[in-house]
Amino acid sequence: MIIEKIAESNFNDSVFDSKVFGKNFSDHMLIAHYKDGKWDEPKIMPYGPISVTPAAMSFHYGQTIFEGMKAYKNEDEEVFIFRPEKNFERFNKSAVRLNMPEVPAEIFLDGVKAIVDLDRQWVPKDYGTSLYLRPVMFATEEAVSARSSNEYIFCILLAFAPSYYEKPLSVKIADFYSRAAQGGVGSAKCGGNYAASFFPTSEAQKDGYDQVIWTDSIEHKFIEEAGTMNVMVRIGNKLLTAPTSERILNGVTRDSVLALAKDSGIDVEIRPISVEEMYEAYKSGELKEVFGCGTAVVVSTYNAIGFGDERAELAPLSDEESFATQLKKKLKDIQYGIAEDPYGWRV
Ligand code: COI
Repeated sequence: MIIEKIAESNFNDSVFDSKVFGKNFSDHMLIAHYKDGKWDEPKIMPYGPISVTPAAMSFHYGQTIFEGMKAYKNEDEEVFIFRPEKNFERFNKSAVRLNMPEVPAEIFLDGVKAIVDLDRQWVPKDYGTSLYLRPVMFATEEAVSARSSNEYIFCILLAFAPSYYEKPLSVKIADFYSRAAQGGVGSAKCGGNYAASFFPTSEAQKDGYDQVIWTDSIEHKFIEEAGTMNVMVRIGNKLLTAPTSERILNGVTRDSVLALAKDSGIDVEIRPISVEEMYEAYKSGELKEVFGCGTAVVVSTYNAIGFGDERAELAPLSDEESFATQLKKKLKDIQYGIAEDPYGWRV
């Protein structure tokens, strides 16, 4: 790996006061080029713009995938990356689905470790804050023919992630738009999935909701994801989530929350959840909690669910009562190196 260090660091403590997610980039980035059927030697270099032609195929046909991970620092200044091998695995699954080349572990995993090590002063220490790691790959071949590109750039960027003001959100259950279709790219972390979600989300916002709970694309009868996250539903004392599939992302936070829930003695069921079941549970008072799980926010709680024209307000639970609050704390304590890590998740 070639390492070209920045002449003078741009680091300044005030970065950690920012309330904006993903806008304050660290000193370095990693870049690797794919051409003639192979990856060149990755290079860590000062973060900054790169030159790409407007004919680069990713701009036209959307061959672009990404991942999101976080690095944390404990009181002893040790830096941890949370389960990077899971993101590595998923990145290459996304690459296969988008007909892009897979990225070898020596570039992705060794690259993530090397760049975080180099920019470790950018990893904040305050509970709730972290350094967000964004691996991304995009097609760069100069051509407008509609086919897979023969050239790509793989890049790793690091940006400060503030502590979210953890206000509960309201979510509208999708009854027209969908995020993913059977046989489609829902399980890939590709740019187009996000682009396609922005308009339905802005429509939901006009109706007074923050985000959308995505449902199956055929009948809108089963819930699949929420916003950019996996979704969990608590009915009575059971914690339910939909199985991952070609429509649902295999979330690392989802997987971690499920493991923690099972090991805390919570009754977990991984099975399809119908909108009707949720609505009936709401009516009978058994719909206790609905929350999203994802890398950026970790766990996001919802206080209102839009079932058609009906806004169902969920009664707030105390921290002791709430599965979401309990599981979030357990997960964060592992991520920040406060609690033991019996799972070997910290790297
Ligand atoms: C996540 O939290 O899992 C995400 O994918 C968020 C990212 C799109 C900013």
